[in-house]
Amino acid sequence: MRPTLMLFMLLLSLSLASCINEDSDGPYFGNGIHNGWADQHSIVIWTRLTQRPDGRPEGPEFIGLTKAEHDSLRRLNDPDQLNAFQLPEGASLEDMPGACPGTTGEVLLRYYQKGIPENFAATDWTPVNPDENFSVQWTLTNLKPDTKYKLLLLARKNAQSPVSDTLKGSFRTPPKDKIRRPVSFSIVSCHDYLRRDTVAGHKIYAAMEKDKVDFYIHTGDIEYYDKPDPYAFTEELMHFKWDRLFALPLQRNFWSHTTSYFMKDDHDILCDDAYPGTTYGAVDFERGLEIFDREQFPSAEKTYKTIRWGKDLQIWILEGRRYRSQNTETDSPAKTILGQEQKQWLFQTLQESDATIKVIVSASPILGPDRPKGKNDNHSNKAFQTEGDELRAFINRFDNIFLCNGDRHWQYVTHFDDTNLWEFGCGAGTDAHAGGWDPDNFLPQHRFLRVKGGYLLGSVTYENDKPKLSFQHRDVDGNTVYEEIFNF
Ligand SMILES: [Fe+2]
Repeated sequence: MRPTLMLFMLLLSLSLASCINEDSDGPYFGNGIHNGWADQHSIVIWTRLTQRPDGRPEGPEFIGLTKAEHDSLRRLNDPDQLNAFQLPEGASLEDMPGACPGTTGEVLLRYYQKGIPENFAATDWTPVNPDENFSVQWTLTNLKPDTKYKLLLLARKNAQSPVSDTLKGSFRTPPKDKIRRPVSFSIVSCHDYLRRDTVAGHKIYAAMEKDKVDFYIHTGDIEYYDKPDPYAFTEELMHFKWDRLFALPLQRNFWSHTTSYFMKDDHDILCDDAYPGTTYGAVDFERGLEIFDREQFPSAEKTYKTIRWGKDLQIWILEGRRYRSQNTETDSPAKTILGQEQKQWLFQTLQESDATIKVIVSASPILGPDRPKGKNDNHSNKAFQTEGDELRAFINRFDNIFLCNGDRHWQYVTHFDDTNLWEFGCGAGTDAHAGGWDPDNFLPQHRFLRVKGGYLLGSVTYENDKPKLSFQHRDVDGNTVYEEIFNF
């Protein structure tokens, strides 16, 4: 046996026996692995080193704030003052329930095609970056399409220390544009740590494990900075909220072995309906983008992308916050959510694609309907009607484009008679998070309406060699509550 192979088998057996080296006191992979932006030949892998193997199981409660206190604190910008305000006397953030603080150390990543572990590739030992919440990431390139890859991560404090933790994961790359095979995917939106429906995390992740999807998309509002316990008025508090959510076992397990596309929205950049120029406590919009796009999730140069998933399916992941006009501007042809460059790219790539089925995933609705009053944040609102009309008119020229979105906390299917316009709102990630629409307000364009939590499951299958697209709305336990089928 070659020495490298012997070492690898040793490390593999170590990881199979026990992830954690009982003789060491870390660092650990308490936040698991995230991947992002997968295409046929590349993927980005993210991880973080932690002081604890899991989130802190218990601790004191945060000090609650009145609405008036919140509204005045969000206008302050002194991080020390803002950090201290919600903590009980004598406590630090690390003492609070769920805390999973970061630590310094080094990570080595090995990856190989499933079934041929001896053909592994590996990174060097790489230090995590304390300035980026102790995270580290790599872009893996030269991958094979339609291939399952296994990951093995090793942690150590420094070159003199033993391996303190190991973690296994996996992902699958998309098939090329000539390959016909069934593909399934799930779409999720809007959840947070406090409104999880089990101690271990959100039930949708247990349900989605059984679906064995090829990939998963989170449309954003993965966590809510502007919800209590604590309101995240500072970078430290924002990091705390991610650390706590990422340590939840149901999420952590699912994300470690599912090809994922993580989008962001207002609440995980700053606060409700955030746009360029908004601040929340000590954090401005630019820093909010950076924390999400560079520190907490797999990074890409551009945060919009189209990915072919075989001959019959192509998806478009849109960026809905970075390039937008201020929500408060008067609507006009210049007012935008997508920005000119992204919009041109979207129109051009939709036109050029020969995929049978084209799925556009937008954080927020393009068709709606949205709440009748007080919303000026998305393409279905009056405040962005000009660009919304432009998008709807363009999309209506195709009979094979399907819109999917998050952001709204109810599940719906919208279709306007005599058009090609279809929109599937996946709804919030738990029942506790659902609301915002009167369940009895079933409008003519509603094919389906349900004010409860769950997720959306999409699948492309074949019947007599002809592609069939199914969208199923699922409840939080994975039961199908509605299905729409399209034959091609
Ligand atoms: Fe939301």
